[in-house]
Amino acid sequence: MIPITTASRVDGRLKVTGGARYAAEFAPAQDNVLHAVLVQSTIAAGRVASIDTARAKQVPGVVAIMTHENAPRIDLGKAGDMTPGFPLLQDDRVMFNGQHLAVAIATSFEAAQQAAQLVELHYNRDEATLLMSDNPTGTSVPQRFRNGMRPPASTRGTPQASFDAAAVKIDQIYRTPIEHHNPMEPHATLAEWQGDRLLVHNASQSVFGNRKALAGFFGLPEDNVRIVSPFVGGGFGSKGVSWPHITLAAMAAKLVGQPVKLVLTRRQMFTSNGYRPKTVQHVRLGADRDGRLTAVLHDGISQNSAYGEFSEPVGLASEMLYSCPNVAVTHRLSKVNQGLPTFMRAPGEASGVYALESAMDELAWALGMDPIELRLKNYADRDEHEDKPFSSKTLRACYEQGAAAFDWKRRVAQPRSMRDGRLLIGLGMATATYPVNRSEAAAKVRLQADGTAIVRCGSQDIGTGTYTVMAQLVGEHLGLPLDRVRAELGDTALPQAPVSGGSQSVASISPAIREACLAVRAQTLQLAAGDPASPLHGLDPEELDVADGRILQSAEKSRGETYQALLARQGRAAIEADGSAKPGEEKQKFSMHSFGAQFVEVAVDPDLGEVRVRRHVGAFAAGRIMNAKTGRSQMIGGIVFGMGMALTEATEVDPRSGRVTNATMADYLVPVHLDVPEIEVIMVAEQDDAVNPLGAKGIGELPTVGTAAAIANAVYHATGQRIRDLPIRPDKLIDGLSI
Ligand code: MOS
Repeated sequence: MIPITTASRVDGRLKVTGGARYAAEFAPAQDNVLHAVLVQSTIAAGRVASIDTARAKQVPGVVAIMTHENAPRIDLGKAGDMTPGFPLLQDDRVMFNGQHLAVAIATSFEAAQQAAQLVELHYNRDEATLLMSDNPTGTSVPQRFRNGMRPPASTRGTPQASFDAAAVKIDQIYRTPIEHHNPMEPHATLAEWQGDRLLVHNASQSVFGNRKALAGFFGLPEDNVRIVSPFVGGGFGSKGVSWPHITLAAMAAKLVGQPVKLVLTRRQMFTSNGYRPKTVQHVRLGADRDGRLTAVLHDGISQNSAYGEFSEPVGLASEMLYSCPNVAVTHRLSKVNQGLPTFMRAPGEASGVYALESAMDELAWALGMDPIELRLKNYADRDEHEDKPFSSKTLRACYEQGAAAFDWKRRVAQPRSMRDGRLLIGLGMATATYPVNRSEAAAKVRLQADGTAIVRCGSQDIGTGTYTVMAQLVGEHLGLPLDRVRAELGDTALPQAPVSGGSQSVASISPAIREACLAVRAQTLQLAAGDPASPLHGLDPEELDVADGRILQSAEKSRGETYQALLARQGRAAIEADGSAKPGEEKQKFSMHSFGAQFVEVAVDPDLGEVRVRRHVGAFAAGRIMNAKTGRSQMIGGIVFGMGMALTEATEVDPRSGRVTNATMADYLVPVHLDVPEIEVIMVAEQDDAVNPLGAKGIGELPTVGTAAAIANAVYHATGQRIRDLPIRPDKLIDGLSI
């Protein structure tokens, strides 16, 4: 078994010294790059009646204004699952406020910006739908769900009748707002045509997804398109889909016959790359007097756009998190004139578990029961929805270890009973869960004559530590220190890997890298054993091992030689092998999820309604943790993400115009250092031999799940007020506090 390491990020030094180059920082070989600036719709629905570009074209340095009238024609039908219907200047339709309607292209960014402001758009307006339905059982059920993978609704047992007959009932509506991802690095694309080949530097969570989309749009073989994305300054889901600006940059480059760079402004990142959709969720829980669940009903509706389809799967966790014979879940969509929503860190679970775990807390109060005891009483030992055993589930230990570290037992059950001076103190908890995902991936490993190794895999490092885990795997399998391993990723010229989304990167690429490593290692040991000049000659390769850059005899470690010595004698420049791995039968046999428990202490100012998180303990069981240091960091980041969801983050849309009104970092409030208290992360030991050969379940999204519910539950404990509408800002609390 590979030991857990605590290696520092191998790309850390590059990042803090500015040596890591991001998409916008690249320049084409010839220094002839043009700059593109988007012109966006100011209405929510209608058609472009006319576009006057005369004044824009007079700006010195302007090369072209691309509109639907002169834009290259592309094939909208062939670009993959998530892009059909994207508005890409192929017609005059306007479907939301902020839609890209023209692109100003100029020799400098400033000229392009000025020209963009001078483009005059005239519209024929249509009636826009700007408010989503507030009724989670009203409009139609979508046909597809989680992108075609699951039916949109499920039922087992007799949920309605059992709920009606339940001794204790919770029946509430919970709301979550639109949220935007706001990674530090804005989206950026540099597109360059070399004949019929297209080279694109792009801030991307999915270089192969981008390649498929662009090849489809332009009718090119995929081999003619290369996407490069060596460093990504955060994505959180926003860089997973091939958003229109990427294609528009390539179209602009084609139109003018020169490389084009397009960088989104922070404001444009509220209109151009998806968002976590607003949801309204109706949760009904029925229980007997002992706290045993007899019915769980979770009906969710989420905002969708006027084009495309994205469904927020809020009810999936409700299907499997607790043991209950009678469960019904539905998902509905409400089309409005806004951009397409998308995946945002823990899509489905982040919003859905907020509702479910708030309702569970309400049930605990109704029963007069401790919230952990209620969850243990309804602990699911198998997945009752899929009717399968869990590959592993160590949630009990998460509750226990989290509660112990948090000192949960000091909680006095009565709301408003704990104080610190004038502040109201509240303690709350919630469960976290996220599915284990995995996709096919390939990798190449090369052990070189100088005793270093290179590992190549077309995955992405979105700040999560992919470079580090890749290097670590090679270091561990080939017995090399990390500074002798170079990892290469973020390039479609490398072996194919999936989107860095769904917490699946490590689970997908590690087995492929491992396979390549084992092949290199086997070849190397074979060579040594077969080489008459090797000190290991004649030994069975089974008796050999690798460590500290050497091949050695396991039983007699001083007997051996360096890789350099062996490769030099053999006249080999390198020993190289490919590896690939894909999911097996495990998904058919097991239900695979990671789990955790979140514990929060809040202090509420009774005069101002201001909520401060004072302490957070998160205990997570996610299989093998590949790197305890980068893993802890990722878990803290996930919890902070949930804190923003709970307390500050919401994208506001003007109901008259459909325009985002707080599209700046000053108005859209993400937590900053002063908002974030001490966070304690507990990695609960868990061995899972089924999920994948490494036993790693993935940790990118799990820690976000449950955080908002734990905070809402703590706020209730502190104040006696149940806020069922995120975020929990002072205005929602203040009236009830002045008692
Ligand atoms: Mo994530 S929302 O799967 O990038």
